[in-house]
Amino acid sequence: MEKIFDSHSHYNNPAFNEDYAELMNHLTESGVGLIMNCGSDVETSIISQKQANACDFMYFSAGIHPLDAHDVTDENLAKIEQLTKDNKCRAIGEIGLDYHYDDAPAPDVQKKVFIQQLDMAVRLNMPVIIHIREAMQDSLEILKDYAGKIQGVIHCFSGSAESCKILINMGFYIGFTGVVTFKNARKSLEALKIVPFDRLLIETDCPYMAPEPCRGKRCDSSLLHYVAQKMADELGKTKEEVIAQTFENAKRLFNID
Ligand code: NI
Repeated sequence: MEKIFDSHSHYNNPAFNEDYAELMNHLTESGVGLIMNCGSDVETSIISQKQANACDFMYFSAGIHPLDAHDVTDENLAKIEQLTKDNKCRAIGEIGLDYHYDDAPAPDVQKKVFIQQLDMAVRLNMPVIIHIREAMQDSLEILKDYAGKIQGVIHCFSGSAESCKILINMGFYIGFTGVVTFKNARKSLEALKIVPFDRLLIETDCPYMAPEPCRGKRCDSSLLHYVAQKMADELGKTKEEVIAQTFENAKRLFNID
């Protein structure tokens, strides 16, 4: 059976505390082969590091999420850089811009922290995991200066097919979650169809974004079978082809042998 690479998860979330060990066993039995466990601030990046070092099928990323970009100090960034030295750390993320919430850090604050971490990724030659929500124009404006200098994924892609094309031309991979199974997924599906098969990633963003028919429940990587099936139906591939290709793509992006 082909193995799934969940390219974006948050097993550092307290939602997994109670049954974590049991769940990890369940994931391996459900065909999950590798997991990227993403940090969103210093604290969750450290938890992800510990979890990845205790699990032979888990890697982690370290970074500061735009919604955690308040009061980021040089010490915080130095700590993220220190975490990237761990052999299990394979990306800087998640980083980006998120203008959805009224109480989010101001755009200028988010941009500064995003650019600082992009520059860190260039300097360390590491891929990035990028979060963009309701901030596509500003993100494209920033990212165009990094095209060709950086590898990365735009995770849980929610933009238009047009923006998707621009990001692909900049060299990015595009990640899709259970959102593609939702009834209002038309926009995501339009974007999905223009992604070259060798740039496509599959992800949960768990504990959030559980696919249909589990929408609203706690999500975990085993539910990616539903997402892979939906992608396969849309792309005219088999589920096994989607799982195998996205596994190879994530390994290539994250430099995993
Ligand atoms: Ni995430």
